[in-house]
Amino acid sequence: MRVVVRQAARLSGEIRLPGDKSLSHRLLVFGALSPGTLEIRNVAPGEDAKATARCLRSLGAKIETSGEVVRIRGPGELHPPQEVLDCGNSGTTMRLLAGVLAGAGLPGTLDGDASLRRRPMGRVLEPLRRMGARCEGTRGPDGEERAPLTFFAGSRLEGGHFRLPMASAQVKSAILLAGLLAGVPVRVEEPGLSRDHTERMLGAFAPEGRMPLRLPEAVTVPGDPSSAAFLAAAAALVPGSELRLRGIGANPTRIGWIQALRRMGADLELVDEGLSVGEPVATLLVRHSPRLRAIRIEGEEIPSLIDEIPILAVVATQAEGTTEIRGASELRVKESDRIAAMAEGLTRMGAEVEPLPDGLRIQGPTPLRGARVDAASDHRVAMSLAVAGLRAAGETTIEGGEWASVSFPDFFRALDTLQASP
Ligand code: S3P
Repeated sequence: MRVVVRQAARLSGEIRLPGDKSLSHRLLVFGALSPGTLEIRNVAPGEDAKATARCLRSLGAKIETSGEVVRIRGPGELHPPQEVLDCGNSGTTMRLLAGVLAGAGLPGTLDGDASLRRRPMGRVLEPLRRMGARCEGTRGPDGEERAPLTFFAGSRLEGGHFRLPMASAQVKSAILLAGLLAGVPVRVEEPGLSRDHTERMLGAFAPEGRMPLRLPEAVTVPGDPSSAAFLAAAAALVPGSELRLRGIGANPTRIGWIQALRRMGADLELVDEGLSVGEPVATLLVRHSPRLRAIRIEGEEIPSLIDEIPILAVVATQAEGTTEIRGASELRVKESDRIAAMAEGLTRMGAEVEPLPDGLRIQGPTPLRGARVDAASDHRVAMSLAVAGLRAAGETTIEGGEWASVSFPDFFRALDTLQASP
């Protein structure tokens, strides 16, 4: 589907963000691991969290949904699924459930769409096998294991100490969940701190590190900071804009993009609101910034803004000087090759962008012009190019704009509403 975006006059007003995707996946999984009923409010509305819920239903969880409220009750002991567990486009679903199947010793097959079938899964299967899980992926000509992934019944797991070659919250969480379900101790070290939601939830729900879980009756998911990033960037870029983004998750492992935008000279203010699900929640105030400057983004901060690099690249096209993003080769194995997709889309719009093996080099500022661009079947590329379109002269047509619904189904409506506000 094509979505057309026109140059924006200004964005203003207030909006409450849809629930965080990372937290929603994890709360659904923990809900399915406990026989009590957990009410999850403001659950992420996109396709990804729906994929997790669908798979957990196949494992025996009872799930009722009304709007953004989900009630989930685990079966006591998860059942072997009767059908293939279809993770859709969601890498988090596949990797978390790999840990669950391995830890519970359940047979099952995890599969996904064409994009998910291209993503590397050896990174999660190898540590699980080291724990004793019997599982295998589908090996490509390059030797990498990919979906579909098959788990065999009756593995007995042992604990262990794992040093991950990449900072990946999905892999870390799979190992932690496998250890929890198998009742064995695990320790995970990563080269940089990836999002720590699973650890925080384990601390709250399994304080002694073992089952059974102690879940509250109800939780409210903070708004998704990764979705907020698109609107914040739009406000920073479009003259006259002023937005108030309410109720967003402000976990430090998720908001590196706010620090990066501030270093670029953007006008962002984070006002505390409190805590929800053990996670800080805040309101973000953003105003248009007439003067943005180039920065370097690299090293330890990369995991805290990995999903926001596409939108930071858009902002960099309007910043004075050369922005360089390095150490982000993980972007090549996300829902699309985000380095290639963003370099291609932004270049078509008139930006000066050079793809690097592990990042991007962007020369700014360059005036953007409307063009026909491709979302590369990737929600974050679709929304990033749409924001570029708000700042571009004329009309931008995004091929595959509907992919936004993977994480932010109301994204285009939100842009319209914020442009229409007085
Ligand atoms: C996620 C972890 C990150 C991130 C993804 C969500 C999670 O992936 O890019 O959007 O919820 O654990 P990796 O763990 O592969 O880095």
